[in-house]
Amino acid sequence: MAVKVSASILDCDFTRLKEELLAVVNAGIDAIHLDIMDGHFVPNLSFGVPIARAVRQLTKLPVYSHLMVLNPEKMIERFSPYSDFILFHIEATTHTDDCITAIYQSGCQPGLALNPDTPIDTIIPYLPRIMNVLVMSVFPGFGGQKFIPESLSRIHRLHQLRAEKDFKYTISVDGGVSPLNCSAIVNAGADILVAGSAIFKSNDYAQTICQLRCLNH
Ligand code: DX5
Ligand code: ZN
Repeated sequence: MAVKVSASILDCDFTRLKEELLAVVNAGIDAIHLDIMDGHFVPNLSFGVPIARAVRQLTKLPVYSHLMVLNPEKMIERFSPYSDFILFHIEATTHTDDCITAIYQSGCQPGLALNPDTPIDTIIPYLPRIMNVLVMSVFPGFGGQKFIPESLSRIHRLHQLRAEKDFKYTISVDGGVSPLNCSAIVNAGADILVAGSAIFKSNDYAQTICQLRCLNH
């Protein structure tokens, strides 16, 4: 499967949200990534339902809502009408199985995100039921941070586990992804690269997306 690129709009120019979104769509992006922050689970606030609704109206591409919120179970029904995937953090709830069930019932696909210092073992019991793992390669809360290199072995482990047990999840990598490190990330086993600043701070979105797909992986 060819690697896919998902655009995190956190770093786009919000005075021109529609133009920015259509620009990445026209530049060939595969999916849109929405970073929802609550100021509690992470030390920052971002945006919420009105932006998710606007994005849904502007594109039919898959929308991944990355919930960086405490008690994500309370937010599933708010974001599900505007999402294809709902990704929540294993660290943010004690009701992981219930969240997964609620996401399926809402008509979306469930994914689990994990912070760079959370052991992979914590999500193993849930791997048979989820459709995406979001490996955080920075501590969540802010765009434009530096990729944590230890993430590569974590991606590789998830890749191996999937092969061994025939699990169905895709592996996404989120944080500090750039044309300079994308080959190593894909070679470690990633299926989807999430990129914010690498795309939106570049002069040519199509070229950057093409570089992220790394013709030479
Ligand atoms: C971090 C977010 C990421 C991030 C991506 O809290 O989950 O999606 O904004 O942005 P870059 O690619 O700039 O690290
Ligand atoms: Zn994210």
